[in-house]
Amino acid sequence: MSPHVVLIGPPGSGKSTVGRKLGVRLGVAVLDTDTVVEQRAGCTVATIFTRDGEPAFRALEEQAVADSLATHPGVLSLGGGAVLSARTRTALAGHTVVLLEVGMAEGVRRTGMSSARPLLAGLNPRATFKTLLDARMPLYREVATHTVLTDGRSAGAVTTEVLQRLQEGTTMREDDRP
Ligand code: S3P
Repeated sequence: MSPHVVLIGPPGSGKSTVGRKLGVRLGVAVLDTDTVVEQRAGCTVATIFTRDGEPAFRALEEQAVADSLATHPGVLSLGGGAVLSARTRTALAGHTVVLLEVGMAEGVRRTGMSSARPLLAGLNPRATFKTLLDARMPLYREVATHTVLTDGRSAGAVTTEVLQRLQEGTTMREDDRP
């Protein structure tokens, strides 16, 4: 069983909130790969980062994504950095992958100074967010079959657009669009 839809995007793009709403509206289960990692590790993502380091987290995340893509039939939200893994990008081929885009100002505002997001907990979250977007946007676009903008829009409005896009049924990769 593979997911009905996979959500990707930067932290603060609304993957968790929109994922939950999509699950309700589609009547399917919702899974977040951060939750899978936390359940397997028996501690939070933040603890894994500080105790074991980012590479250890990425290895757990890569496995959690591979397993979830193979077994979860509903909505699957990936952690914001999951696309950094080439194995994950390859595994996403053939799936319906929706990129939730968020601009820098709104992304920083939505994520705040949350200690639950270790990568953004530094002294200058704005600069960190920009570096993160610069590095990742090409990777998000490489694997996305649909892109939905989220700046200035409620999670409900974004969810409605995702559903509309899914109904249109296009699975062409964004990069291949004319
Ligand atoms: C990360 C995003 C987080 C989580 C971890 C690393 C990232 O998930 O996987 O803190 O590298 O962007 P969210 O995108 O749900 O915040």
